[in-house]
Amino acid sequence: MTNALILGGTGWLSGRIARRMLDDGVIVTCLARGGRAAPDGASLVRGDRDDPDAYAAVEAQDWDHVIDVSSRADHVTAAVAALGTRTARWTYVSSMSVYSDEVTVGADESAPLHPAAEAGDEYEYGPQKVAAENAVHALGDRALIVRPGLIVGAGDPGDRFGYWAAAFDRAGAGDVLLPPTEGRTAQVIHVDDLAAFITATRVTGAINAIGAQHPLADVFTLFRTATGHTGGTVSADEEWLVAHGVQHWAGERSLPLWLPAEMTGFMARSNAGYRVNGGALRPLADMVADVLQDERTRGVGRERRAGLTGRQEHELLAELRRSPLR
Ligand SMILES: NC(=O)c1ccc[n+]([C@@H]2O[C@H](COP(=O)([O-])OP(=O)(O)OC[C@H]3O[C@@H](n4cnc5c(N)ncnc54)[C@H](OP(=O)(O)O)[C@@H]3O)[C@@H](O)[C@H]2O)c1
Repeated sequence: MTNALILGGTGWLSGRIARRMLDDGVIVTCLARGGRAAPDGASLVRGDRDDPDAYAAVEAQDWDHVIDVSSRADHVTAAVAALGTRTARWTYVSSMSVYSDEVTVGADESAPLHPAAEAGDEYEYGPQKVAAENAVHALGDRALIVRPGLIVGAGDPGDRFGYWAAAFDRAGAGDVLLPPTEGRTAQVIHVDDLAAFITATRVTGAINAIGAQHPLADVFTLFRTATGHTGGTVSADEEWLVAHGVQHWAGERSLPLWLPAEMTGFMARSNAGYRVNGGALRPLADMVADVLQDERTRGVGRERRAGLTGRQEHELLAELRRSPLR
């Protein structure tokens, strides 16, 4: 590959893809509105994909590789129409949220998908990704559709995995509130492993990009060990947490990585396709160490997009100590 166009390139994952390609000697152009900078060495073409002429500055040349991270089916459809005929290889970053079955453990890329979003539908992430994938299918065997699960690593704007580094670190010798872990798994991929795969692989078709399934309890143990936490852990049960307004998975007042008990397949999908095609997976302990260092740099007490604040956690722990049942 000698040149690549990244539709995005100024965000977290797309910026890391751009960086990786630059390091590999690829000439990288990023197309974005330009609120954030492109990585050093990449060209930035400003364009708003809401505009019909968004691709005017980049459509009159051949591209070895186009990478698109949009979660808007209209953006992806327009990009394929504008750039598809002059592009040798296309990678679309989709998501494991395309799957409608959240129960089956070990499901591979042939698992059923949500119905594709249609024009005029209220925005829903999974159906938009499905409709975007459908637009990319028009490129046939030139296209790779990567379906990542939870992406982790330094700089993560989603704050989910990093919450646990922050929670154990800020607790010191105090207690940490945990969700139920029985029967739960966690599955993540490091942002730089994913960026390296997208840069290097020649595989086409759909590929789940995700790590091994780890018992959720083991993930918490790794965070506890890495932070040097010396306090205790207090587990609350599903009903108690829900009754006290604690959200699953993400967002404010949440316990990230905690899923409803019936979502047994959501973080337990097959990654055989990723591994057989050379996808690297660093050890979970290395990801925990990377994220802990990043959380300490950014400040474990900072405002976050996911998790409990220190105050919310203290109040919930105090309430739990008062309740005979959890
Ligand atoms: N985080 C996870 O755990 C997870 C899991 C599964 C899948 N994913 C997928 O991974 C990808 C994440 O990519 P990312 O981190 O690079 O995303 P991001 O930070 O949201 O960046 C999006 C990029 O698109 C550009 N962009 C947004 N709106 C635009 C518009 N109207 N016109 C032109 N450019 C526009 C942004 O730049 P400007 O704002 O400057 O325009 C930026 O460069 C997404 O596809 C996401 O669905 C994430």
